[in-house]
This record gives sequence, structure tokens and C-alpha cells, in this order.
Amino acid sequence: MTIKHQDSQPDSNLSIPAENDRADRSFDAIADHFEKKVYGGLKGEIRLAVLRRDIFEYSAQMSEALGRPLRILDVGAGLAQIAIELAAQGHSVVINDISANMLEKAKASAEKIDKKLNITWYVCPYQALEEKLAHTKAEKFDLIMSHALLEWLAEPAAVMDFFDQYLTDDGALSLCFYNPASFDYRNLIMGNFNLLDNTDYKADNKKSLTPNYPVAKEEVQSWLKAHDYQTVRSSGLRVFHDYAPLKRGGHNDPDAVIRMELRYSQLEPYKWLGRYLHILAKR
Ligand SMILES: C[S@@+](CC[C@H](N)C(=O)[O-])C[C@H]1O[C@@H](n2cnc3c(N)ncnc32)[C@H](O)[C@@H]1O
Repeated sequence: MTIKHQDSQPDSNLSIPAENDRADRSFDAIADHFEKKVYGGLKGEIRLAVLRRDIFEYSAQMSEALGRPLRILDVGAGLAQIAIELAAQGHSVVINDISANMLEKAKASAEKIDKKLNITWYVCPYQALEEKLAHTKAEKFDLIMSHALLEWLAEPAAVMDFFDQYLTDDGALSLCFYNPASFDYRNLIMGNFNLLDNTDYKADNKKSLTPNYPVAKEEVQSWLKAHDYQTVRSSGLRVFHDYAPLKRGGHNDPDAVIRMELRYSQLEPYKWLGRYLHILAKR
């Protein structure tokens, strides 16, 4: 297996402080909790089903047009399921996360699939990748994936400059991010008006998976426009699953839920209520 671990001394507990008290959030301390809560059930299956559909069709077309496997980067990769599957499809993949514990889990699942996958692992904040990549003859990437990272960054807009630097001229960006509108809508449905009246609400539980720095879709779209991206496709992830307090009828059939989520993930206006949004954009 040619999994290359570039760091013998991973900066697993590193967090990048911004000018104020804000800091990027490493998932090192909550890797098990994240794996169980986010990917231990139907929620995770829906998330992966939508991302697979959106990304794999596009990456296959891109690879065919270029006549070679793609060079792919996943930043803030966590368990890196999609990146590992892309490596298994023959692409050359660089996987990054600030958390060593998250990448240990990802490596273990990559090894189960195939020991010869072309994956390079960098345990460091994405902000330190420039230095690491400078030691390789790495060029730019055809596809950069950033899934559920934005909302944990103290300075989320800054990652756009990183994408500009490392994406090829006709490369694609797969940006998946938490949708703050879904927080409001879910709390309206659940009657948690106190959380909506309290504009300073912040999850204080250290294990909370409610993001620290959510960014509204309109803001992300304005960044994409300012950085000359065109949206190729956009989807909502979990557009109804999380809003159903009572499971009735089809809700009891997981395959049917995934089928409906896939269908409505692409339809207006439902997709904009997804707990996460996925935008595939091209320069
Ligand atoms: C919500 S998880 C998402 C993981 C994965 N991309 C997914 O969609 O399942 C956010 C990840 O970003 C990582 N992270 C936070 N700040 C980072 C940074 N500055 N550089 C790289 N990774 C970071 C965390 O350690 C965590 O694994």
C-alpha cells in the first residue's frame, strides 16, 4: 500500500487562532463521537448518497475529457469516505485534516478497501499545506473538495484564496457547508423559539456538532462570484429527514428516504432547506 504519511509528528491538537478569540476547530477530541453521530446511521448515508451522485458523475466526465486520472485534494477531510472512493476509482488523492485522530480512522478504512490506493496524507491545518506541498512536485488540483469545513473555520472566507491558488484553471470545487437557514427552520418546527429569539445563541457543549461559524448560502455564493466560479450543480443534503419529528409511512423505509432525499435534493425550493448545501462550481 502506498499510503504516504508525510508527518511523523502530526499537529493533532493544533488550532489556528484568528486575530480575535475565534479559532479553527480540530475534531481530534470528538472523532469517535463524530463518526457515530454523523455517519453511524441514515443521516450519514443520505449525506454520502447526495455527494456521490453530485461528484462522481462530474469527476468521471472530467477524467474522460482530460484522458487521465484526476489530481484531487480533500481539505478538512475527516473520515474522507468520498476521497477514498475516488482513489479506489484510480485517481490520485491528497487527504488533509488538522486532526490526526480523524485521519487515523480514514486510513484504516482506506486500507480495508485496497492497500495500493494512491493517497497522500497530510495531518496539518490546511493553512500549512502550502509548505508541505512545496516539498513535493505537486502541481495544482483538478478537483478540490471541502466538505463541512467552512463552518468550523475562524476565517472561512480566507479558504477561497487557498482554492484559487491550488485549483487548475478549469478545475472544479466541491463545496459542502452547513446551512444556517436549516437551524431556524428546524427550531420553528420544534417550537424552540427561545433559540431563535436569542441571537447570541451558541452551543456551549464541547461535543456539540452545531457549527461555530456558520455562513449563509448568499454569502458563500457572493464569494464564489467574486472568485469567478460558476455553479455547475447545487443540492441540499437532508432536505426533509431531519424535520420529521414523527416517522410515518415511507419514513420507516431507509431506502425510500434516501431515494426521496436524492430526488428533492435537486428541486427548488426544497433543496435550499437542506441541513447542508453542496455546490459544485467551476472556474
Ligand atoms: C465537520 S468535520 C467534516 C469532515 C468531512 N469533510 C465530512 O464532510 O465528513 C470538519 C473537519 O475539519 C477539520 N478541520 C478544522 N479546521 C481545520 C483546518 N484549519 N485545516 C484542516 N482541517 C480542519 C476538523 O478536524 C474536522 O475533521
